[in-house]
Amino acid sequence: LRIGEHGYKYRLVDGRVMPPYITPERYALSRTVSTRPSDICFVSYPKSGSTWLSYIIVLLATGSNPSGATLRDSLHWVESSWTYPRSAEDLERAAAPRIFKSHMPYSMALGGEPAKNPCRYIYIGRNPKDVCASYYYFESGKSWSGYYNGGWDHWLDMFTSGRVQRGDWFDHALSWWEHRDADNILFLTFEDLKVDTRGQLEKIAKFLGLTVSDDQLRDVERKIGFDQMQQTEFSGLKDVKEFSKFFRKGEIGSWKEYFTVAQSEAFDRLYKERVGDTGLEFRFE
Ligand code: A3P
Repeated sequence: LRIGEHGYKYRLVDGRVMPPYITPERYALSRTVSTRPSDICFVSYPKSGSTWLSYIIVLLATGSNPSGATLRDSLHWVESSWTYPRSAEDLERAAAPRIFKSHMPYSMALGGEPAKNPCRYIYIGRNPKDVCASYYYFESGKSWSGYYNGGWDHWLDMFTSGRVQRGDWFDHALSWWEHRDADNILFLTFEDLKVDTRGQLEKIAKFLGLTVSDDQLRDVERKIGFDQMQQTEFSGLKDVKEFSKFFRKGEIGSWKEYFTVAQSEAFDRLYKERVGDTGLEFRFE
């Protein structure tokens, strides 16, 4: 475990900056999970809409009958020692469909190399300016640890140089983007989910091979609205002080409250340079 600038705690895993709760044991278990065709793993860089996506997948994949009493109980976050760690035996016994959560880049994915195992992976990306702003809000003044106490300018520097937990945003997103055409990988964006929720729900259902009625789609769409989700007991996030940090604005473009014009322009240049002609694009507003 290391303590970096401004009290920021982290751990190095395979040379990448990771949160302290990615212990070697948990990481090893996540890499060696023996996956099945009925498995679903959703993946993202932090603050890209993974809680939102997790609720969608749990509702769709279980016909709105989740396996657990809360969202967290209905998922397996194998790489983390933090929330409800499951043992290898628990995972073996878990009911299908097993729904896994991960924040890893492609080369560190759950189950080993995604192209070589039967699990279906859904990656959600988000424009990195909003990710960076959302992450700053989340990490500064985290009620359960409060471990980052630097300011915005410093955070932006940490983010753009890959010193925040989960490391460099660019190679994380690009690592999955490169594999977007694989049959068992679906690449989504926060922005599409926001602008065309219904269309994206249909896309997810199709990818998972589910037949979902119009009524069911409408029901899911209602339950996963930004306000609605925070009210639901099932989300397990309601009334839990630390988890209120998972909801800030839920919008596209609120990075403008943080970035100065100069910072935004410098970021645009960096984006061009790092993303190049890979075709990875996001709406920034
Ligand atoms: P903001 O901080 O920009 O509001 P994650 O779940 O991966 O940690 O991502 C958190 C981000 O997703 C936060 O972004 C949060 O508000 C947003 N979010 C969560 N639920 C949402 C929903 N139902 N609709 C829109 N955005 C949502």
